[in-house]
Amino acid sequence: MFPTDRPRRLRTDGLRSLVSETRLEPTDLIAPVFVDATTDERVPIESMPGHERVPVSEATERVHEVTETGVETVILFGVPESKDARGSRAYADDGVVQRATRRITDETDATVITDVCLCEYTDHGHCGVLEADAETDPTTTVRNDETLDLLARTAVSHAEAGADVVAPSSMTDGMVTAIREGLDDAGHTDVALLSYAAKYESSFYGPFRDAADGAPAFGDRRHYQMDPANAREARREVRLDDQAGADLLMVKPALPYLDIVAETRRQTDRPVAAYNVSGEYAMLHAAAEKGWLDLEATAHESLLSIKRAGADLIVTYFAERVAENL
Ligand code: PBG
Repeated sequence: MFPTDRPRRLRTDGLRSLVSETRLEPTDLIAPVFVDATTDERVPIESMPGHERVPVSEATERVHEVTETGVETVILFGVPESKDARGSRAYADDGVVQRATRRITDETDATVITDVCLCEYTDHGHCGVLEADAETDPTTTVRNDETLDLLARTAVSHAEAGADVVAPSSMTDGMVTAIREGLDDAGHTDVALLSYAAKYESSFYGPFRDAADGAPAFGDRRHYQMDPANAREARREVRLDDQAGADLLMVKPALPYLDIVAETRRQTDRPVAAYNVSGEYAMLHAAAEKGWLDLEATAHESLLSIKRAGADLIVTYFAERVAENL
């Protein structure tokens, strides 16, 4: 007895690439860039080896480094010069992301996505306006409806600065509708909206919160971000944002949530993005540093898996490194 149907026939050097079902391209990848109003020099981010916060004066150069690898899109995060209760530097015309966006869109061909959230700009580190008793009552944190207006103002100010895509990440109910209306009323009908539609309250965001200085001063984000236990609820979040007209829909994090990526791919005809978050990046680096994993190979395999699960686009701190080796 011997098997007549032999899958191994297709695994020769010649046939393997012919039958390969998934291919990563540099243009699938989106590189996060941190611009920092508090520094004149690049500052390395300790928990994210190879990443730095850059001053606005170096934003263009930083983006050129990205585009040289073939990656065409960046997502900007800002570290403001000051913070207050309502995150006013998030929607200031001369805010750090607005200034960086102006430069980058004037001086490069890169596609610019801006993260729209308040947590890096509020002195309490939450993603919106706080309830009066938020600090003492752990069952309440952010005022949903009062936050919508500030998110819309932030998105409009990014659009005025030249952003191609705005990406709300605050998990505020109604954020897509509020931002779309704000953009359209201000004449920015061509600015696209990438919604962080299914964003989980994840422990994998730790290194990012160091990088962008956005950790909550008290409490956590479980009243607005999703419970990691829930999958059906992600369908609901995705449906709401799809119906509200989000142009692209994102799942975050990526690797521990590949079931959600796959389900979102089945659910919508819109492009699906996944965010390979800071903790997913940091853990491969830490293991590689110990000599336990090969960084190049595991980074590539991670991104390939995310694409295979159904993501068209991947936001990843590995963007440049992986693109260079494709
Ligand atoms: C802002 C935001 C966060 C991330 C992206 N946008 C932090 C958070 O929600 O706590 C995390 C990204 C990462 O970990 O790489 N709300």
